[in-house]
Amino acid sequence: MTQTRGQGFESGITGVGKYFPDRAVTNHDLEKIVDTNHDWIVERTGIHERRFADPGVTSTDLAVHACRQALDMAGVKADELDGIIVATVTPDMMFPSSGCVLQQKLGAGRCWAFDLSAACSGWVYAASVADSMIRSGAARRVMVVGVDVMTSIIDMTDRNTCILFGDGAGATLFERLPEGEEGMLALELGADGSGGEFLYMAAGGSAKPASAETVANREHYVVQDGQSVFRAAVQGMAQVTLNVLDQAGVTAEEVALFVPHQANLRIINYAAKKAKLAPEKVMVTIDRFGNTTAATIPSSLCIAHEEGRLAKGDLVLATTFGAGFTWGGAVLRWVLGD
Ligand code: UT7
Repeated sequence: MTQTRGQGFESGITGVGKYFPDRAVTNHDLEKIVDTNHDWIVERTGIHERRFADPGVTSTDLAVHACRQALDMAGVKADELDGIIVATVTPDMMFPSSGCVLQQKLGAGRCWAFDLSAACSGWVYAASVADSMIRSGAARRVMVVGVDVMTSIIDMTDRNTCILFGDGAGATLFERLPEGEEGMLALELGADGSGGEFLYMAAGGSAKPASAETVANREHYVVQDGQSVFRAAVQGMAQVTLNVLDQAGVTAEEVALFVPHQANLRIINYAAKKAKLAPEKVMVTIDRFGNTTAATIPSSLCIAHEEGRLAKGDLVLATTFGAGFTWGGAVLRWVLGD
């Protein structure tokens, strides 16, 4: 669905942050756990290594570091935030929300805080909420976090999934921009619930509360029909990429950097090719961090900024496709830098 964004205040990203656990796990490390091999993983996914959090480390433990970096960059204090949105499929617990837990860890006063569940599309969905709230005047500063501790829901005996995911956090501070400055140019969100059967975690919700049986049946782990998701993701990513560019009235040549969701290098390359985006304009972090679900786009934005791949005024394109199915795209002007 194309978002009707209306008139109002402009929002832009004035601070970015990221955090990954220290423990790097290579494909060779995984060869010792499941029947897989480095060459297969690299050829099929583009992943060389990923980071795993130590047991007991939570999503908000990662998120708090990323948020502090973003706040420092923007010169904003935590208690100046109007709100926090945490996009995640691995909240610290069912409730209270990780937004509330994070608010307290950050010392963010009494700003509103909530979680948003859109799996790999979480950051784009949350960015859209933040933009709408700033645009309407309801908020001035919103912290949008994408974070997942995927190792808390990954079956380390399932080679179909355990090689794909990693743990990480990305934070983006959205602020109302001074008059005359341009931030978010276009947003596109979509979902198709009929895709739910291809990527899910069966138990732990109201449909199947945790029980000895759900544990014995290994139903608290991610299940993915890789090929079906791949087919849908290839088409879906390409389509949302073309749609959001069209909606923004921007050509591929005008885009400085394409920051796609990092699920599979083949999906990324296909979407880039379809949109005629030159390979050097494509941000790839999957080789180093694997698929960190909601964290891929915000952490990649931070890495791109740190690596000097983004300058003030650049046009950034970010698109995603994931469980739900959900998808989303954003075209925004980079306001960070001199
Ligand atoms: O971010 C959320 C959205 N998720 C995605 O976008 C992921 C979409 N899916 C994918 O990225 C790919 O489907 C995978 C990377 C998950 C799998 O790649 P694939 O090219 O679709 O492989 P496949 O599932 O068709 O498996 C091909 C072969 C099979 O063997 P046979 O039946 O041909 O003998 C698998 O059993 O590869 C085998 N295989 C493996 N071999 C070594 C599956 N997993 C592994 C493994 N190591 N880890």
